[in-house]
Amino acid sequence: MWKDDKGRFAIAFKGGQQRLMNNQIIVILGFMGSGKSTVAHDLARKLNCRASDLDDLITRRESRGPREIIEQDGEAAFRKIETRILREALREASARVVAVGGGAWTIAENRRIIAEHEAFTVWLDAPFELCWTRIEAGRETRPLARFRETAQTLYTARRGIYALADVRIPVSENESAETIAMKVAGAVDQLNAKS
Ligand code: S3P
Repeated sequence: MWKDDKGRFAIAFKGGQQRLMNNQIIVILGFMGSGKSTVAHDLARKLNCRASDLDDLITRRESRGPREIIEQDGEAAFRKIETRILREALREASARVVAVGGGAWTIAENRRIIAEHEAFTVWLDAPFELCWTRIEAGRETRPLARFRETAQTLYTARRGIYALADVRIPVSENESAETIAMKVAGAVDQLNAKS
């Protein structure tokens, strides 16, 4: 077991199983189609805790999803809702692994809220081609990535902000979500061992 001077650490091994300790929260971020939600759920299963997806929480609370909100009320209205629900979700912290939508981390206020909770932030860095293939194949249209060019511009513009996360996990096409989840668990663990 590792502890830093704030008494916080993320993962302990107990009976060969990893568990999250001291209410540690892990936030999974990255571009649309990088696999955040699937990895978050796999990671939570591995760590015996709950996962949630900010877009799903928004959909439940608002009775409409990000696509509808953006299309009906515009992106600015969606961002306000996103920040409000993120704040609530982290305060309640019923889930320890939280996947946030691709734009959430780009908003300074959201990064501040996440920092306030001392969450570990993990950037799933998937190549654009992989994200785009998934965006195109997805059942749910992403209004901010309707066209390849707009998506590519957004992808490039956001990389510098995603890089502010505590750890970057490169993601490749031939890796399963489970493998990526294991890498995330390892990275969080290492970070704690250092602190
Ligand atoms: C967005 C990403 C979407 C969703 C909304 C805005 C973005 O989530 O929150 O359409 O700005 O990148 P996913 O990253 O889960 O697709």
